[in-house]
Order: sequence, then structure tokens, then C-alpha cells
Amino acid sequence: MPGPTDLLNATRRTNLAMLADVQPAPPDPILGLTEAYRADPREGKVNLGVGVYCDEHGKTPVLDAVRQAERVLAETQTTKSYLPIDGDPGYHQAVRDLLLGPERDAQLGDRVRVCATPGGTGGLRVAGDLIHAAFPDAKLWLSTPTWPNHPAVFAAAGLTTRNYRYFDAGSNALDFDGMMADLEQAADGDAILLHGCCHNPTGVDPSPDQWAAIAAFLANRRVLPVIDLAYQGFGTGLDDDAAGVHAVLDACPDALVVCSYSKNFSLYRERAGAVVLMAESADAARDAMSRMKQGVRRIYSNPPAHGGDIVRTILKTPALRDQWTAELDAMRSRINDTRAGLTRGLDERGVALSPDGNAFIDRQSGMFTLTGLTKDQVRALRERHAIYAVDSGRINVAGITPDRLDAVCEAIGDAVGNG
Ligand code: LMR
Repeated sequence: MPGPTDLLNATRRTNLAMLADVQPAPPDPILGLTEAYRADPREGKVNLGVGVYCDEHGKTPVLDAVRQAERVLAETQTTKSYLPIDGDPGYHQAVRDLLLGPERDAQLGDRVRVCATPGGTGGLRVAGDLIHAAFPDAKLWLSTPTWPNHPAVFAAAGLTTRNYRYFDAGSNALDFDGMMADLEQAADGDAILLHGCCHNPTGVDPSPDQWAAIAAFLANRRVLPVIDLAYQGFGTGLDDDAAGVHAVLDACPDALVVCSYSKNFSLYRERAGAVVLMAESADAARDAMSRMKQGVRRIYSNPPAHGGDIVRTILKTPALRDQWTAELDAMRSRINDTRAGLTRGLDERGVALSPDGNAFIDRQSGMFTLTGLTKDQVRALRERHAIYAVDSGRINVAGITPDRLDAVCEAIGDAVGNG
């Protein structure tokens, strides 16, 4: 019999080993880039891959409102015992306030239930699990393109996905007619995923009129709207960025809205998110939420508390809420200034990322721009200039600091010329 040391030292495979048969997974297309970026020894490297806001010094800040809320929590928290499966009721109210505003919140009452989730990604999985458990034949419709993790998360939940046209690369704008024509193909009982604002990866959102048309379409079909709202406040403002969601909630009998507070509260690693479930009646909402809770119990049992406690503390304390809103406004302004700077910087160098120039960058919303750079050009950016972007050509505008703006414009010019 080999002793434990013999096994440890064995270099030859035994026929008892199982994990050696596991095939390695490819690096994640977004988070894998950050690993490569961290390992890059070059000075002046720039990470435009992952969607994380950076301030003008290239740091992802802990917001002052968050620090103050954490101080309050450190002094007042009395237990670390488990939260309920769907999270803390005080957090539920904060999520409702921010998403619905007081009037709609009161109107909807018990037709709405909230489930706290580990970030937006956790919320998407929980939503996917509910859809799959309740409607095993449902297909989930995703925009082309969409966040690369969407298909993977929903496939892991067992859902079949379909795609609808969304982005017209020729005009760098929404292909609204194509989108609506494809959504017409959704079957009774399907689910349709929409990005609430700041579409990831294109930065292209429907106009208010288009949202109204989308809502009217959804209202006339037996399909479930699922809205991913990960960037509320990063587009035009907290209320405007929720206007599309409101149009859908006001028109439809039911919907799921998945909220993330990673970006707007800069709470990335605390994993604060939620699923807001709206059903046709209070009873239907209660029953559907019981299914969602059953799903949660089977994945992670109950949610982490800290991020949600911070969000709750900030939103219920007027001074902290004002402080946070000001910090959020500053993040949004920096993103918009950087968009303008990038457009100008490329224009000045005679670099045009589309036949119509670069004005599309300035028209788009949120952190992301789909630049139109090819995979080879993205590789050239990385290999020659230590600038990291997603293979699809998506860049995170909020990763460009003022002192690197010129270098980024130069590098893009070089990649476009030589890529
Ligand atoms: C992104 O798209 O970069 C962000 O949503 C972060 C992530 O998890 O991919």
C-alpha cells in the first residue's frame, strides 16, 4: 500500500486519479484579460477590458458615502447570523426605492417582491433558474451582441437561448426594425432579455419612443421581460436610466428586473445585487418568489450581507444619499468627458473608427464603446502598446485616464493603420 507521501511524490498517474481528466477551461473573455493585464510588466499599461470604473488616477475608488456607511455599520451591527433566503427586508425597500421611486413603489405594493442576490450575475442566474424551473420549454432571447457572460449564465441555468438583432455595425446604432422583427418570432411562454440602460457591450440604447414601442409589444404578448439593469446612473441619470424599465413595468403584467450595485456604488467585490419580481397579483408574486427562494437555497443558500447593508444604509440616510448621488454624478461626468476626449483625440489624429467618423463614441451611453476594432487590431493594441481591450473590440471608456488619453488615441491609430 502506498503511504500518503508516496502518493504526493508520485509523478506517474494512477488509475484512481479523477481530476487529472478535467479539461482546462479557456480564460474568461473579460476577467481573463485582467489576469493577463496584471501579469504584464510593461510601464504605462492600460486595462480597457473589464467594465470597472476608474477615476482620473486610474483607481477604482471606495466612495466616501460607502466609507461612511461602513463606519455606521461597524458600530451598529449586532450579528453576523444568516440573512433570510431572499435577504434583508430593509434592503428590499432600498432596492424598490431606487428602481421604482416612491409612487410606483406604492402603486405596485405586494405585486413586487425583491430577492437580494450576490451581484447582478448572481441575480441573472437566480432569474434563469426560476424561468427554467417554471417554464422548462421557454427560450430566452438575447441581443446580438450581448454581454458574453449572458449566454453562459443562462445555459448553466438550463435555458435555451435565441438571438435578436440589436446593433447595426454600419451605422453604430440600434437596428430597431431588425430587433422588433426578430422579437416577433418569440413563442408564447418565451422570455426576452433587455439591457435597461448603457447596453453592454455597444453603449447603444433604445430612445424613449423605442422603449414605448418595445413595452407595447411586450404588453401584447405572453412573453416574460427580463431586464438587466447594471449601470443605473452611468448613462444620463438615475431616473432617466430607469425610464425604459418603467415603461415595461407600467405596460406589462409581469417582469423580472435584475439590478446590480457593483458599478453605481463602486461595490464590485461586495456582490450587491437583486432580482425585482413583478407579477400580476400579490398572490402570484408570493408564489413565484417562493420558487425563486427554493432556487437560491440550492445554489448559495442565502445572500452576503455587507454590500446590501451599505446600499441600504446609504439610501435611507438623506445625507449619505446626497453624498452618493454627487459621487455618482462625478463618475458619470468623467465617463462623458472621456468619451468626448477620445472622439476629439481620434479626430485630431485623422483616425476614423467608422465611415462617419468617431461621433458615435460621444453619442453612446455608459462605460462601453464597441469600437469596431477587429480581433487582430485588439491584439496589436495589447502586444504593441500594452492596452487591453475585449476581443470583440469593446473598450471600457472609464479605464482611460487623462494622462493616458493621448497614448490610447495614438495606439488605436497605430492598430488601425497596421492591424
Ligand atoms: C463587464 O462586462 O466587463 C462587467 O460586467 C464585468 C464582468 O463581470 O464581466
